[in-house]
Amino acid sequence: MVQRLEGRVAVVTGGGSGIGLATARRFASEGAKVVVADLDPASGKAAADEVGGLFVQVDVTDEEQVKALFQTTVDTYGKLDIAFNNAGISPPDDDSILTTGLEAWERVQKVNLTSVYLCCKYAIPHMQAGGKGSIINTASFVATMGAATSQISYTASKGGVLAMSRELGVQFAREGIRVNALSPGPVNTPLLRELFAKDPERAARRLVHVPLGRFAEPEEIAAAVAFLASDDSSFMTASNFLVDGGIAGAYVTPL
Ligand SMILES: NC(=O)c1ccc[n+]([C@@H]2O[C@H](COP(=O)([O-])OP(=O)(O)OC[C@H]3O[C@@H](n4cnc5c(N)ncnc54)[C@H](O)[C@@H]3O)[C@@H](O)[C@H]2O)c1
Repeated sequence: MVQRLEGRVAVVTGGGSGIGLATARRFASEGAKVVVADLDPASGKAAADEVGGLFVQVDVTDEEQVKALFQTTVDTYGKLDIAFNNAGISPPDDDSILTTGLEAWERVQKVNLTSVYLCCKYAIPHMQAGGKGSIINTASFVATMGAATSQISYTASKGGVLAMSRELGVQFAREGIRVNALSPGPVNTPLLRELFAKDPERAARRLVHVPLGRFAEPEEIAAAVAFLASDDSSFMTASNFLVDGGIAGAYVTPL
């Protein structure tokens, strides 16, 4: 593995599972020191131990805990180079606008959008201190595409992540801090499996729209995150980085 992240310090929120776990592994294999931040202590600690990093238990909706996460990172490893703000939820009670209640709407907004606001707010000053940094915020292809199978708060939250990432990328560009939104297509993770992969009809309804004809593996998303984290993407900021198997570009897909 190329060592593009040698000597870099990275925080991965939601690092205990799915895309976050695959990315923690990928970051470590490219030479980074990784801080795994997750609500779940069992999976988070296991991930951190596996990659030889630090586990910090954090609820990304809690301002004090998020502030402490980035301070602990700098106190432990001396600096902050990379923030992968990735923790997110997609609960079943977030559905059509006609049936989704205010409590579900607000819960999803807090975990998926307010968390990214908090993580950027408390990561950026450490990056300013170092004169450099790469922030990757996990949005989704639904920030770009409309779905008839709605999860209204999820979609709106990811649209917010995309717009916020663009604005921050522009605002901090000349301070050496890059901010990009990562927009995965459907990925074969617990979150997606719980939602519909266990139901072949629901999965088939979605797969027909994917030119590549399958869901992504978390490692394929992690490879894109490592690119955005590294200097290989040094001329990219404020972008919507779609890793979606061609969904957003498709009209008619192959049989
Ligand atoms: N799986 C997909 O198909 C897909 C597609 C596009 C975007 N995404 C996005 O990718 C991100 C990761 O998704 P995944 O599929 O890997 O999910 P996952 O459920 O496998 O992992 C999410 C992790 O986040 C943690 N988490 C949840 N709430 C938290 C909180 N309040 N504080 C701290 N940690 C918390 C969980 O404990 C878990 O370890 C999410 O933002 C999701 O919306 C996923």
